[in-house]
Amino acid sequence: MEIIIAPTYQEMSKISAHFIAREIKKKHDIVLGLATGDTPIGTYQELVKVHKEEGLDFSKITTFNLDEYVGLPPLHKNSYNYFMQDNLFRHVNVNQANVYVPQGNTEDPEEFSAWYEQQIKNAGGIDFQILGIGRDGHIGFNEPGSSFASRTRVKALYKQTIEDNARFFDRIEDVPRFAITMGVGTILEAKKILLIANGEKKADVVAQFIEGPVTSQITATALQLHTLATVVLDEAAASKLKRKEYYNWVRDNKHLVQKMVGR
Ligand code: GLP
Repeated sequence: MEIIIAPTYQEMSKISAHFIAREIKKKHDIVLGLATGDTPIGTYQELVKVHKEEGLDFSKITTFNLDEYVGLPPLHKNSYNYFMQDNLFRHVNVNQANVYVPQGNTEDPEEFSAWYEQQIKNAGGIDFQILGIGRDGHIGFNEPGSSFASRTRVKALYKQTIEDNARFFDRIEDVPRFAITMGVGTILEAKKILLIANGEKKADVVAQFIEGPVTSQITATALQLHTLATVVLDEAAASKLKRKEYYNWVRDNKHLVQKMVGR
């Protein structure tokens, strides 16, 4: 796992947008896995900027979002579909026919989940997956105890997740109790993974998932099993890491490291 610590949220966002833009330039028809939440908003804003100012072309890409609340129709203001349209899709030249977000109000979530997995396969798999992290260590909505082999399915949300996400709803009772989410197994099949996290409230879980033991109780620890996973943090989120100096040395001497490992 490569750990990059940026001084601020803005810098974290710029670095991650730069990674994504680089991948899009390398492969115009890239398949991106996308995340929601407050964390990637700055990254999406930077990507929109690169599109507007430098003409970064989204027209051939395909996107798959990680998750969606069960019961919310795509146009609901709290749906992740709405979030993506609002924060990224409507600002860039993405082809809406190639945009996939799980359908929260599907009549048959099980059948839908199998269909979603099939669409990912049909697209050739996810090339580059962007992730945030919940305070309980979840990626997507893979709550504690989710199998590392899990595929897209319905998950019941953990109490802490419901409380954390209540800020987007009028009342905590309005937060859906279930979500459709890609599984940990689905995520691990992405060719490259980028996880971003910021703020002091993520510091404990960031230290646990990077430096702690691999466990399904913190599903982000699954990234330790991936060969091309990068984590970009701001200083606050990185504040409880024990090996911060080591990560910073590697970041600052990347040319030497690349020479040694041939990447
Ligand atoms: C939700 C999403 C996750 C996201 C997490 C963190 O639970 N399902 O994909 O990573 O929230 O959100 P935030 O970035 O707002 O802290």
